[in-house]
Amino acid sequence: MMDHIVDHSVMVSRVSLFLCRSLKKRYPDLNTELVTSAALLHDITKTRSFTTGEIHSDTGGQMLSNLGYPEVGEIIRQHVVLDEYSDQPPVTNQEIVNYSDKRVLHDRIVSLNRRLMYIERKYVKSEKLKQRFKQMRQESIDLESKLFRFLSITPSQLSDAVLERVNPDMSKSKI
Ligand SMILES: [Fe+2]
Repeated sequence: MMDHIVDHSVMVSRVSLFLCRSLKKRYPDLNTELVTSAALLHDITKTRSFTTGEIHSDTGGQMLSNLGYPEVGEIIRQHVVLDEYSDQPPVTNQEIVNYSDKRVLHDRIVSLNRRLMYIERKYVKSEKLKQRFKQMRQESIDLESKLFRFLSITPSQLSDAVLERVNPDMSKSKI
């Protein structure tokens, strides 16, 4: 794995851990160990994909399933696009990893909009992809609203909260 992808994965895992801990009282089925493991491993085949052209979310998911970790594999498979978007509870493990990845650009926590702009510039080359990206953008915005409904911080405060530059109790007060 390239170093910068390791750094990215560590930060995605930190964001996922924060969201999981903050939402667990409301959604007790969230599995912190599963979420952080999948977040750390979500780009496991990305370095390889630069030469093979493989779809790294699919092959990464398959790799973990083959190794005997199908639940981790399932979350990795859905880290780019979720099989299903729902504004209804509960918040799921795969929603947390998918969203966390959309808040981390390289190893920095940025706004959803900034990350999506980066993805658009780097990967969206054809008309067909443009349509798919447009849909994914709206679904990601809706997912952000769902996740933050029961958090006492706003999306723009996420970076400070994860990096513990604000009072960590902030994340508990509404739950
Ligand atoms: Fe990825």
